Amino acid sequence: MRTDVAIIGAGPAGMLLGHLLLQAGVQAVVIERRDRAYVEGRVRAGVLEQTTVGLLERLGLDERLRREGLVHHGTNLVHDGRMFRVDMHALTGGASVTVYGQQEVMHDLFEAAEARALPVIFDAEETRLHDVTSASPSVVWRREGIETRLDCDFVVGCDGYHGVSRASLPPDVLRTFERVYPFGWLGILADVPPANHELIYANHERGFALASMRSATRSRYYIQCAADETIAAWPDQRFWDELAHRLGPEAGSAVVRGPSFEKTIAPLRSFVTEPMRHGRLFLAGDAAHIVPPTGAKGLNLAAADVAVLSDALVAFYHDGSESGLTGYSDRALARVWKAERFSWWFTGITHRFPEMDGFARRMQVAELAYIEQSRAAQTALAENYVGLPL
Ligand code: APR
Ligand code: PHB
Repeated sequence: MRTDVAIIGAGPAGMLLGHLLLQAGVQAVVIERRDRAYVEGRVRAGVLEQTTVGLLERLGLDERLRREGLVHHGTNLVHDGRMFRVDMHALTGGASVTVYGQQEVMHDLFEAAEARALPVIFDAEETRLHDVTSASPSVVWRREGIETRLDCDFVVGCDGYHGVSRASLPPDVLRTFERVYPFGWLGILADVPPANHELIYANHERGFALASMRSATRSRYYIQCAADETIAAWPDQRFWDELAHRLGPEAGSAVVRGPSFEKTIAPLRSFVTEPMRHGRLFLAGDAAHIVPPTGAKGLNLAAADVAVLSDALVAFYHDGSESGLTGYSDRALARVWKAERFSWWFTGITHRFPEMDGFARRMQVAELAYIEQSRAAQTALAENYVGLPL
């Protein structure tokens, strides 16, 4: 088999890139380890920056998103039991975010792949990358016992944190930077109306809580928990009680309870790989960087990476220009580090850290009080939350 660009991984990064290339007449094949139902079924965050929405619009994939997505002009913070609103729309000169679950994004991307004949190979096992520093790399995988080799001009690793692509960079080239947070997020989905029409991020003595949603009838809630916590320790009743308590009297009393149908614990990590290119291998999305979920930047960062990379690849195929490809890593990393900073900072001011002493706690209280009172501080939060320019 032969194609222009081999894409490893059919998560948001890989599927968006595949569609962007197809639209520009560049051939791509997406190779995915799992099946479609598995990839589509993974519950992740659901806040899209305007740039991400713009990318879906450019692909003609925004029809359902415009119909079903919830446009949010503000977000809320709770500290000391009090809630205040950050009017992102007013502070940023009209920007907003759209609440639309990653599962919905994946569904739209897979449906369009079928309709537009973007080749996606599911259930690919033992994927291996070859000759990525030569002019003719290849990817080999096994499916139903048969080995296939795909020759290509470029390989893009969109295979997430646990993929094979990053591991193909030689250790003397690869630099990684990491923070592991000493806690996790316990998240649930329930078919109950959300506590508020916008999101609520709460800092409480007992730990962080987040009220989010998927629709007017489906809520998504999280509470900070110990890194080694078990789901069995959190029956619904205990979860709802703790959530309502941490959200404070105003937001907590608005929580509508019901049976949860999804309950998972996710670890929190900040992680960046440099560079994001080696020869003809490019990394994008979680393969290159991870953010803690506070601020919901993961999917948006993946979308920003592939927006930059697809422009560079298309320029190469259309007019032979290599400057976009050469500049990709630096350009993507400049944005990645800013999103890393925001996610790390937002996690830091909203969570309880086990090692926190009285001083550290008072710094948090002072910072939240400052944000509550300062238009400048709220503007800084708002412009990062809605997404920095590409
Ligand atoms: N071969 C082929 N595919 C692989 C391999 C492999 N060896 N290893 C992993 N994959 C696939 C995974 O099964 C997954 O479907 O790569 C895909 C990577 O998808 P994500 O982990 O979602 O990463 P990305 O597309 O970069 O998305 C970034 O979306 O899922 C969220 O938390 C993520 O918010 C982040 C954003
Ligand atoms: C979510 O809805 O899952 C969500 C929203 C905002 C975040 C993280 C997750 O910051």
